[in-house]
Parts: sequence; C-alpha cells; structure tokens
Amino acid sequence: MRNISTVAHVRFVLLCAACVLVTVVLAGCREGAELTTTTCDGTGKAVVSRDATGRELADALMAQWQRDHPDADWVAQEKERHELKPPFDNSVLLEGGQAEGHTYGQHDKRDLLLWARETEKFVVEGSRIFHSGDLLQSTVGVSCDMCHPHASNTHPESYPKFQTQLGRVVLLRDMINWCIDNPVRGRHLNPDDAAMRALEAYIMAQRSGTAMDYGKH
Ligand code: HEC
Repeated sequence: MRNISTVAHVRFVLLCAACVLVTVVLAGCREGAELTTTTCDGTGKAVVSRDATGRELADALMAQWQRDHPDADWVAQEKERHELKPPFDNSVLLEGGQAEGHTYGQHDKRDLLLWARETEKFVVEGSRIFHSGDLLQSTVGVSCDMCHPHASNTHPESYPKFQTQLGRVVLLRDMINWCIDNPVRGRHLNPDDAAMRALEAYIMAQRSGTAMDYGKH
C-alpha cells in the first residue's frame, strides 16, 4: 500500500511539473505572437498580432492611431453618432472567376475596401453638413436633422418630380436648396458645390434599398 501511494505521489508531482512547464511555454508563445511596429503615420508604436495581414493589420494599426489621436477620426465618430448605412457589399464581385477579365483590370479585396471607404467618406461628409447649422451657414441655428432625423422624409427616390412650391419639375438638389433657403436660412448652394454633392450623397445613402419611383408624391 505504501509503495503504491509513493508511486501515486511521484506521479502527482510529475504531473504538476508538466503543467507548470506547459503554462510557461504557452505564455512564451503568447508573447512571441505579437510584435511592436509603427502606426500608420510612421511615428507612433503599435502592438499587433504577428500573423496579422491585410485588413486585420490595417484595422489594428488604425485602431492604435485613433487611440493616439482621439479627436482626429471624424469618420468613425460621425458613423457612431448618426447610424450611417454601410455602402453596398460588393464581395460577390470576387466570387468564382469574376475577379478576372474586367475592363479596368482585376479587382481584389483591397479595391473593394478602397471603394467602400472612399464612398463612405463622401457620405459622412454629407452627414456632417446635414447635422450642422454652422456648416449650412444657417443664420437661425437650424440644421436639416431637426426636421429630417436620419434623412427621413427626404424621398430622394421620388425625383425628378413636379414640386408645387417651386411650380416645376425639380431634382433632389433643388429641394435641398429650397430647405436651405426657407427653414434653414443658410447659404444657397450651386449644383456642383462640394457641400451640395455631399448632402445629396448622404440623403441617397440613407435611403439605400428603397426602389426608385420618380414622380411619386
Ligand atoms: C424646419 C423644418 C425643416 C428643416 C430644418 C429642413 N426641412 Fe426639408 N422639408 C421640410 C418640409 C416641411 C418639407 C416638405 C415640403 C413639401 O414637400 O411640401 C421638406 C422637404 C424636403 C425635401 C423633399 C422631400 C420630398 O418628399 O420630396 C428634401 C429633399 C429636404 N426637405 C431636404 C432638406 C435638407 C437637405 C435640409 C437641410 C439643409 C432640410 N430639408 C431642412 C422641413 C424642413
């Protein structure tokens, strides 16, 4: 009996030692799984996973850059504040052989990411203006969202249409200007003004998925 219990004791001690060893080795591996590199602007330091590439790496670097520059990322801030809809997911373009043989060359994940981010940026700029009496240069401190939260009741899909208050067929931009002139009392915009283009982009983005129905009242 005594012998058996001694053997059991030795086994127990060996098992514990093995556990400690495994824990130490795992901890070592975990440390080695990360590396310190420079952030997007090349000046800061970021700790990222050693295996990270592409999107994952870019996001990790961006996240660190944002932590270092808490006020700089107005795109993300605006997205959080105003629940922006994401642009269309074009990932279907990469399925099967579809990524090959396009007129403008082959598309890859980076192209799709670039398209989405640039499009989103354009829309976010519109959101900023839409939500700011100052950017609209309102003389009465009014912004669009006060009457059209999340661009509700703007119906971009119904243009062109005959607008009775203007007495003619108009485009979305004409109604944007109508509201700038009237309730907002802001700066009337030229059709190609950067602010007008951004406002149009935001309003249309918010109605993503709605069927076009021109002329509808
Ligand atoms: C004080 C409230 C108010 C504010 C602020 C306001 N609007 Fe409007 N807006 C209205 C009303 C009311 C209508 C409906 C006019 C109508 O169709 O008779 C309207 C209509 C519209 C339409 C056309 C909707 C449709 O059904 O065709 C668009 C587009 C629009 N507004 C955009 C904007 C934009 C962009 C801003 C900011 C620059 C803005 N509005 C600010 C009240 C407001």
